[in-house]
Amino acid sequence: MEHRVLDPQPVESLDDHIDAGGGRGLEAARRLGPIGVIDDIEASGLRGRGGAGFTTGRKWRTVAESLSPSVPPTVVVNAAEGEPGTFKDRAILRANPYRVLEGALIAAAAIGADRVIVALKASFETEGRRVADAMEEVRARGWAEGVELSVVEGPSHYLYGEETALLEVVAGREPFPRIAPPFRHGVDEVGTGAGADTTSAAQVTMASSANPTAMAPTLVNNVETLANVGSILAEGPDWFRSLGTPESPGTIVCTITGRTQRHGVGEFPMGTPLRQVIETVGGGAGPDRTVVAVMSGVANPLLPAALLDTPLTYEAMEAAGAGLGSAGFIVYDDTTDLVAVAAGVSRFLAVESCGQCTPCKHDGRELAERLDRLRRSVAEDHDVTVVEDKLATVADGARCYLATQHQRVVESILALFPDQIADHARGTLDAAGAELVAAIVDIDGDRAVLDEAHWAKQPDWTFDEVDSGQSPADRIDQRVAEDDEG
Ligand SMILES: Cc1cc2nc3c(=O)[nH]c(=O)nc-3n(C[C@H](O)[C@H](O)[C@H](O)COP(=O)(O)O)c2cc1C
Ligand code: SF4
Repeated sequence: MEHRVLDPQPVESLDDHIDAGGGRGLEAARRLGPIGVIDDIEASGLRGRGGAGFTTGRKWRTVAESLSPSVPPTVVVNAAEGEPGTFKDRAILRANPYRVLEGALIAAAAIGADRVIVALKASFETEGRRVADAMEEVRARGWAEGVELSVVEGPSHYLYGEETALLEVVAGREPFPRIAPPFRHGVDEVGTGAGADTTSAAQVTMASSANPTAMAPTLVNNVETLANVGSILAEGPDWFRSLGTPESPGTIVCTITGRTQRHGVGEFPMGTPLRQVIETVGGGAGPDRTVVAVMSGVANPLLPAALLDTPLTYEAMEAAGAGLGSAGFIVYDDTTDLVAVAAGVSRFLAVESCGQCTPCKHDGRELAERLDRLRRSVAEDHDVTVVEDKLATVADGARCYLATQHQRVVESILALFPDQIADHARGTLDAAGAELVAAIVDIDGDRAVLDEAHWAKQPDWTFDEVDSGQSPADRIDQRVAEDDEG
């Protein structure tokens, strides 16, 4: 295993970080100046580790070319980690928050930002404390001159990690991917800019040089992305490229959970076969069991066992019909009922959908209900046909990627395991137990603890006994309207 961004032992102080070579990236950034820093990050080929693999240098350059004449930009560290099966950002923050802050301060220097915000979930108490303490030390050391450092503690909803929803939370609102309805106009937007022609990693528009706006752009990067930055500047882009492939250079921090002997997090050179990562971190499948499929979060089609030797790169995982995502791999063995997995994924995404786009919430809920009936082998006529129909429409008009995730993951299970679906539909297969697909709350020793509270979460995002039938977006709209009237 590598230790470029995930330190093997917790680094307890800024002094320890500096003793181990930390701080040289920030020094290099001051020497190189903004353009030199962006050139180096672009030359390194670093790609965002939040899931989409967007080129970091290009993102930084776009922001730097789209600055507001009057308001400095902000750097937001996306530490909201809520992808089922993923725990790597929290592992990095626990081990060495200084590395992440150093990367964020280098980003701030590159784009001229005067604020760095680390956005994490309020429930991440250990990481929140670690980051706040590290900020104190960094300030005291003079690393953050001219840059205000702060932590934003957000809700536990999955959508909080989506970058425009994250910015909504930073601005004091609910985590709904941006569509800017009228009541949100004119409120302190930490905007990505309107009328833009550049697509960000999350398929949202960013300010562009062709269409600069008065609004200050915001740079959002994932924890692991920023943890790579200091060493790239200290050691150079060629050093970074000495591991991985030309299209996917560097390392990747993987989380292994599911039906393996152990659960855990480990860093590997990009290009390492997935099977090797599952063996090294997870000890492989249980005794007398075989792996049948692996799911990367709830964002990508499943990878069947026959493709387990696929190298972990963006290009190879995509060519295999899956996707690297945020490298949180949930492993399923020959005892797993994959229809129960589809129902679990579907429930998670239907509940977490915010409902701003009707098909995502309505078709999503319908998918979850029908898949759950199939899982229990009590399907009604046409359930399979309706599932296929709803999969075709669930992503219609979707404002963020969540709906497409629903479509891609469930479609892949139907395609890979048609017999299990057909047998459940006929009732010739026993009812399967429900499969919890939810965020990892913690890794306790070598077992991941999943968020059991998900079972009680209603699609309206309350934990009430009965769901109101309203979508989260409708509920909040109504509340805002009532507040305005009041
Ligand atoms: C539904 C959804 C959830 C997401 N959750 C996270 C998350 O928890 N952490 C994260 O870094 N990115 C998450 N992303 C991706 C972010 O929108 C964004 O692409 C990322 O923060 C950009 O940083 P990067 O370029 O460094 O990867 C999510 C995207 C979607 C569509
Ligand atoms: S696609 Fe779904 S989760 Fe995304 S904004 Fe629309 S309703 Fe919300």
